[in-house]
Amino acid sequence: MNTTTAEELREEVRRRYAESARSVSEGSRGDCGTGSCCDGESDAAKFGEALYDAEQRGELPEAAGLASLGCGNPIVVADLSEGETVLDLGSGGGIDVILSARRVGDNGLAYGLDMTDEMLALARTNAQEAGVRNAIFLKGVIEEVPLPADSIDVVISNCVINLSTDKPAVLTEIARVLRPGGRIGISDVVAEDRLSVKDRAERGSHVGCIAGALSKGEYEAGLEGAGFERISVEFTHEVADGMHGAIIKAVKTRQSEQKGLPVIQPAASAGCC
Ligand SMILES: C[S@@+](CC[C@H](N)C(=O)[O-])C[C@H]1O[C@@H](n2cnc3c(N)ncnc32)[C@H](O)[C@@H]1O
Repeated sequence: MNTTTAEELREEVRRRYAESARSVSEGSRGDCGTGSCCDGESDAAKFGEALYDAEQRGELPEAAGLASLGCGNPIVVADLSEGETVLDLGSGGGIDVILSARRVGDNGLAYGLDMTDEMLALARTNAQEAGVRNAIFLKGVIEEVPLPADSIDVVISNCVINLSTDKPAVLTEIARVLRPGGRIGISDVVAEDRLSVKDRAERGSHVGCIAGALSKGEYEAGLEGAGFERISVEFTHEVADGMHGAIIKAVKTRQSEQKGLPVIQPAASAGCC
């Protein structure tokens, strides 16, 4: 029987990503396991820096690239414009915040939000090294975003929402902080609808971004329930049997009004590292 509570699971996530940040700060990859977003090199084509093109990688300090633990490239999806305000949920080593800050320019602003002190320290160092001045890194959890309502044009995120133990809260918070008409451009691991919660847990750990993934239908229903329209969830590459890196897009057209998301029980943490 699985006795891991949501709080224990979140603590394990924090601990594993703190370790990962420390290893990058010491000059290694953010390696803490295999075949997942908490991975270093074994599955490099599916997670991390390889998902960015050469031009984007050229814009980044080496440590930001090494710290990359995402499962997609939300910058491409978000289609950012000069002057916009962007929020990156679970900003890790800061890769997407740095790239966003460059795209929104001096009149725009890029926020990164992360709960792990070691990741925040790494991201701040990387942003400074990249010469980016319009980036702000905040400490906090994505289930309770420390920003006012209607203050953000675009919410991005890269392989983090699957790690949350309260996904309805995350989607409600995204809708709250976005201005009406604001949009999301998110990369995440998403399961095919045929996979049960147990099937997903058999394919990988929670900290490794596999066991906690929503299915495509659950994502769509959750976003609709939180007040989004023009929703699309598109698979980009398979990361495990029936589980994919995916691009999630949607637009907030009305005030947040959560209608309910299928409840996903936290799966046992199989330990990716
Ligand atoms: C898989 S890494 C992705 C980091 C970054 N987005 C990237 O693409 O490299 C997950 C990050 O999300 C953070 N994180 C996980 N759960 C979180 C939560 N509930 N609230 C805030 N940050 C969280 C972790 O500390 C870690 O930095």
